[in-house]
Formats: sequence, structure tokens, C-alpha cells
Amino acid sequence: MKVYFDNAATTPMHPEVLEAMVPVLSAQFGNPSSIHSFGRETRALIENARKTVAKLLNAAPAEIFFTSGGTEADNMAIRRTIYDKRIKHAISAATEHHAVSHTLEELEKEGSIHLHNLDVDTQGQINMAQLESLLQAHPGAFVSLMHANNETGTVIDIAKVGAMCKQYGAIFHSDTVQTMAHFRYDLSSTHIDLLTGAAHKFHGPKGIGFLYLSNRLQITPFITGGAQERNMRGGTENVYGIVGLAKAMEIAYRDLDHDVAHVTSIKYKMMRMLEAEIPGVRFNGDTSEGNLYTVLNVSFPPSDMAETLLFSLDINGIAASGGSACSSGSNVGSHVLRAMNADSNRPAVRFSFSKFNTMDEVEYCVAKLKEIFAVTA
Ligand SMILES: Cc1ncc(COP(=O)(O)O)c(C=O)c1O
Repeated sequence: MKVYFDNAATTPMHPEVLEAMVPVLSAQFGNPSSIHSFGRETRALIENARKTVAKLLNAAPAEIFFTSGGTEADNMAIRRTIYDKRIKHAISAATEHHAVSHTLEELEKEGSIHLHNLDVDTQGQINMAQLESLLQAHPGAFVSLMHANNETGTVIDIAKVGAMCKQYGAIFHSDTVQTMAHFRYDLSSTHIDLLTGAAHKFHGPKGIGFLYLSNRLQITPFITGGAQERNMRGGTENVYGIVGLAKAMEIAYRDLDHDVAHVTSIKYKMMRMLEAEIPGVRFNGDTSEGNLYTVLNVSFPPSDMAETLLFSLDINGIAASGGSACSSGSNVGSHVLRAMNADSNRPAVRFSFSKFNTMDEVEYCVAKLKEIFAVTA
């Protein structure tokens, strides 16, 4: 049996997405900047996709900019806002994805900003009182706090953070790469200036994402070049990717209620079975309802096989990841779990689920884990 429990790293494409992309890949090849009919056809595909994304977020089409993915959208949001607005103080947390934390750290190193990382508790929850006092001390700061953590699934109250940012005149960027198309957003009523999405996290293609840039905020391009994306991102557009992204998002929101219920039941079944079958098992992050239902970070009891746990799962056909998949292979451990003061003797595995997973897969995975731990007990 092959089981894919690494959906926070990336998801398989939805068949309907592929169906929407194939005609574009095979026949609609015009450059969207060309004024002839071939170009006008692909231009229309892009603008329709932009309208779809905007509508689903209750935003305006002019607030959506397509990028090569989450990393580029985060870089564009952070670098261009901080440079253009000459911001001197940034507030973030050590649990952010490296697309955010490495970008902010580089800006600090070059002397552009002072970076203030909020304390997080053992579940990865930020300290709201500390956020408020930093906002008071540094009016007009840049705040970058992710909606849900990609390793633990802990969700922060972005509506509350947004309201605080509004109160103190701060600019609020939220990395929503893990929650986009998994949670509903109403950007007409939630105060967020910049947020980011990547299609491959919600059954769309890789290499395509977007930045939502509130019309309250004006910034200059991160990638300079041609006049594409209304002068905000040079380069011929990834037309089939854009079509795939919009289709994937449309499907995700169409099926959201059903999929949330299904994936949540998978996660909680896995938790209950692990607790029953593997003594001493715990969970990293906040696993209560309202957190990211696609992610379950399991803290296994200390054992000799910690180093080989992912390998043992892999040879049994189970794909999961240790910490963030974006940095797997680097062997430096998880910066997120370190920031949460997690016990470094306990191996941590992130299992992440999608609408395509089944209860049988959970049962198979837990049975295999039981075998793996029985050998070393
Ligand atoms: C929270 C978060 N932000 C940003 C990214 C980067 O997205 P992309 O791979 O599309 O560049 C990821 C990918 O894992 C992520 O989980």
C-alpha cells in the first residue's frame, strides 16, 4: 500500500484542474501581452482567473498579483513594503516559514530593519500582549505572522492581529500558504494588507501562487521587467498555471465544508489510534478544533530508531515528513519545534492529510508505526 501523508509539502493535482489546464497547454499558446487574437485569448484566461480568486476572497481583482509561488509572494510583500515605506521595525515570530524568516533576517543583517520576534508558547501560540506593546512602542511597524504553522498546524487569530495592526497603524502581512483554500477569508472585513497563496498546497499546479495586496497599500515591483501584472511583476505569465490555480481554488471552496469534515475526521482518528496503540505518544502544536485540520505533528517517545523513523515509514510506502518539507534533507532539525521548546529527544513526524486520504490509510499507517515501535521497544 502507498500512503501519501505529506500534503503540507505539496498536494496531488485535482483531476478537474488538469482537465482545465490541458487545453491551455496544448492549444492556447499566445503571449498574453500580444495584441492579436492569440494573445487576447490568453489574456482573457488570466483576467478571468484573477476575478475568480478575488471573488473567493471577497477582494477586488486589482488586488491580486500572480507570482511563481508562496516564496516569491512572501518576498515581494516583505521586501517591497519595507523598502518602499522605509519601515524600521518588523515584528514576527521564530516559528515562521523560512520564506518569511530568512527574508526578514536578511533585511535586519543589511541594517534596513530591527527585527522583533515574539515569544511563542509550547503550542506555538504568539504572545498577543507582547505584540500590542511592540506595536505601541513602534508605530507604523511591519508585522508578519503566518495564519497556520506549516509544521504544527497551530492557527493564530489573524482577525485580532489585523485589528491591532489597524489600531496602531502597522502594516500586516500574513503568510497564508497553508490555509489558503483550506479556510474562508473575507478580506472586505478582515484587516490584512498582504497575504500569500500557492496553488500546489490546494491540489493545483506547482510554480504558481499569488499575492493579495490591499488597495490601501501601494508598493513597487519585486521583479522588474515588462508591464505584466499591471507593471507589478515583469515576465511572461504562467498562463496554464494561473488557470490551474483559479480552478483549484474554485473546487476547494466548492467542496470546502465536505472536505473539512472529512480531513478533520481523518486527523482525529489518527490521533485516537496513535494514543491507543503507541504508549507515550504526544502531539506538537495546538490540535484543538479551529487549528489547521490538515496537519498532525506527532511527538513519539524517545527511541533508538528516531533517526530512521521516516525511512522506516518510507519503506512501508508511507510518505510523511520531519518538520518542514521545504527544508527536509538539511538535517538541522526543526526551527519551529525548537522555538516551542519541544523535547529534542522525542522524534517528531508531521503527517499531513488531504481530501484524497482515507480511513484505511490511517489504519495501515498506525499498524505500521506499531510494528516499527514494537521492534525497538
Ligand atoms: C507556510 C509556507 N509559506 C511559504 C511556503 C513556500 O511556498 P512555495 O513552495 O510555493 O514557494 C510554504 C511551502 O511549504 C509554506 O508552507
